[in-house]
Amino acid sequence: MSDTGPINEKLPTLWHGGDYNPDQWPEEVRCEDARLMKLAHVNVASVAIFAWSQLEPRPGEYDWSWLDETFDRLGRAGVYIALATPSAAHPRWLTAMHPEIQAVDRDGRRLPHGERQRFCPSSAVYRGEVARIDRAMAERYRDHPALVLWHVSNEYVSRCWCDLCAGNFRRWLQERYGTLETLNHQYWAAFWSHRFGDWSEVTVPSALAGRVPNAVTLDWQRFQSHMVCDFFKHEVGVLTEVTPGVPVTTNLMGFYGGLDYAKFADVMDVVSWDSYPRVGGDPAHVACTHAMMRGLKENRPWLLIEQTPSSTNWMEHHTLKPPGMMRLGSWQAIGHGSDSAMYFQWRRSRGGPEKFHGAVVAHVGTEKPRVFQEVAALGAEMERAGPRVVGTRAATARVGVLWDQENRWALEFSGGPSRDKRLIETAVRHFRAVWQNHIAVDVVRMDVDWSRYAVLIAPMMYMMKSGKYPLQAPPEEMTPRINEAEKVAAWVAAGGTFVATYLTGIVNESDLVYEGGYPGPLRDLLGIWAEELDIHPPGEAANKIVVARGAFAGAKPRYNCDRVFDLIHAEKAKVLARYGANWYKGRPCLTVNPVGKGLAYYLATDAEDRFLADFYRAVAAAKGVEPIIKPTADVEVLEREGQGRRIVFLLNHAAKRRQVGLGKVKGKDLLSGKAVRGRVNIEPYGVRVIECA
Ligand code: GLA
Ligand code: ZN
Repeated sequence: MSDTGPINEKLPTLWHGGDYNPDQWPEEVRCEDARLMKLAHVNVASVAIFAWSQLEPRPGEYDWSWLDETFDRLGRAGVYIALATPSAAHPRWLTAMHPEIQAVDRDGRRLPHGERQRFCPSSAVYRGEVARIDRAMAERYRDHPALVLWHVSNEYVSRCWCDLCAGNFRRWLQERYGTLETLNHQYWAAFWSHRFGDWSEVTVPSALAGRVPNAVTLDWQRFQSHMVCDFFKHEVGVLTEVTPGVPVTTNLMGFYGGLDYAKFADVMDVVSWDSYPRVGGDPAHVACTHAMMRGLKENRPWLLIEQTPSSTNWMEHHTLKPPGMMRLGSWQAIGHGSDSAMYFQWRRSRGGPEKFHGAVVAHVGTEKPRVFQEVAALGAEMERAGPRVVGTRAATARVGVLWDQENRWALEFSGGPSRDKRLIETAVRHFRAVWQNHIAVDVVRMDVDWSRYAVLIAPMMYMMKSGKYPLQAPPEEMTPRINEAEKVAAWVAAGGTFVATYLTGIVNESDLVYEGGYPGPLRDLLGIWAEELDIHPPGEAANKIVVARGAFAGAKPRYNCDRVFDLIHAEKAKVLARYGANWYKGRPCLTVNPVGKGLAYYLATDAEDRFLADFYRAVAAAKGVEPIIKPTADVEVLEREGQGRRIVFLLNHAAKRRQVGLGKVKGKDLLSGKAVRGRVNIEPYGVRVIECA
């Protein structure tokens, strides 16, 4: 796949469709589905996701009839197929034959056959069985013209604590650390007498084991992710052997904590994810998650492969998306670079745990319902705009928020400095501050090329990998061999503006604290020493940020801050703001250090949103980065570009009409076909998709 080309040349438009389960329904319903799909302007269906026991009802006895017929019928109806491998839910007979394929939970109990996604990723038996069914499917449908994508498994999770996995863990550790001496040192194993005298003494963390060294927990989490990723690779290996031209994805889950998706992204051709925001939730959180997902593969087009058309059945409340909201969320994803809007699910099941989950086709079974009509209308719109949108991708922003799953694990597992950590919330708040200024912003991996960015924000980048403890041997899913602090310093020296917050640069990749004062390897770059950290419940020690005159363009004299107060000394850095109260009144809380051609800022406290918005507007402007258009409250502004086209998306997240001044942006609205310029009124939850002239 090229940088901006369609995900599959066979379907060079926006993809519209979703999870489809013909395996649950009789023939007359399946025929009706094809008719309804046409009405709904569906052009893709994800099929066979949990269908193993319908494909192979008894060991070795395949029933392809329903799937053959689905391929042909949908193919005739102009619906392409994202074919799933069925590894997320195996048949009961397989568990009965090989109970050891079932995962073991963190308390050491082998899981009985139950719900989905409970296999052991280390099991050679399971791997063999999965390879067999995957190969059989790939061979059967390799030449079918309707096949456009492999949907590998479903929402992989990390879940197994078995002895096989433990053995693999020990081998993985040996490769990572080489000697027990290194391991003991990196794990600070003398603490509570944890010294390991033999590799076999390394046991997996469990509820019963209690507080083992944080580094064991961290490495175990890394290893679990690695093992599942290795399982994913195993599946992908079979598929690419049989169908080398068919792109591969697996559906991810945003900020899910169990896996390091950066490693997964490197295995797939196209990133896809399942977005289930709470109705009435924060659109910035959704935006940040889209940016994080697309950032896994440097902003190449991705797929919104699941969203609910109306409601979910697993949240606290069964809240409906009001009219317009599903359309808004779909265009929001597309604005963020998705080449699709797909649903879970096409048709509501009659039974099972998800019978009340939203679907395109409700239990009533007709095209009458509001939800079906909204889906069909969106499909028609996507059909019109598709050929213009596909071929572009989310415009590369010049501002980025750094995100690293290993950092998240390290911080979450760390005993302190407090239990109230809020990493995701903090990252989203910094993202939002840039985003609400209508400045394009990415979420950026630590290990990609940063040269296109002017401003990089590191919210609580607690862990700075030294690059010393990857592997002797190369497996690419191991921590890459980069020294992150050196990378940051070189990037700043070359002209970048770096913004670090409290709790940045504290530990190395083994959760071992850097000596010589916080922020460890960034102390010199930031020009500060962080001596102590004061953390309170919200409101208890609310403080002020008292800004020095001329600290940054448009700064107000005072802002609020709360909860977290890093007590720093400006060594080389210039002080831009100081605390206004408490026993540390007058101590610095915002500093900047010029290094080479760049600037390194340190924000020592949890600043209010107003501060973040003003600060990032000024910091971006100083680098020549301006808003796409003048900010309007509640309206999200996004940009895609490529092949000489520029498309601006205006998304009104409010239940009220909003007026937006377009400034220099003018062109044709791809949805209405009308020319737009000047000021536009956007209806509640309304959308404009403007191809710029
Ligand atoms: C996930 C799964 C689907 C379904 C939906 C329900 O995204 O992939 O199979 O369970 O959640 O929201
Ligand atoms: Zn296992």
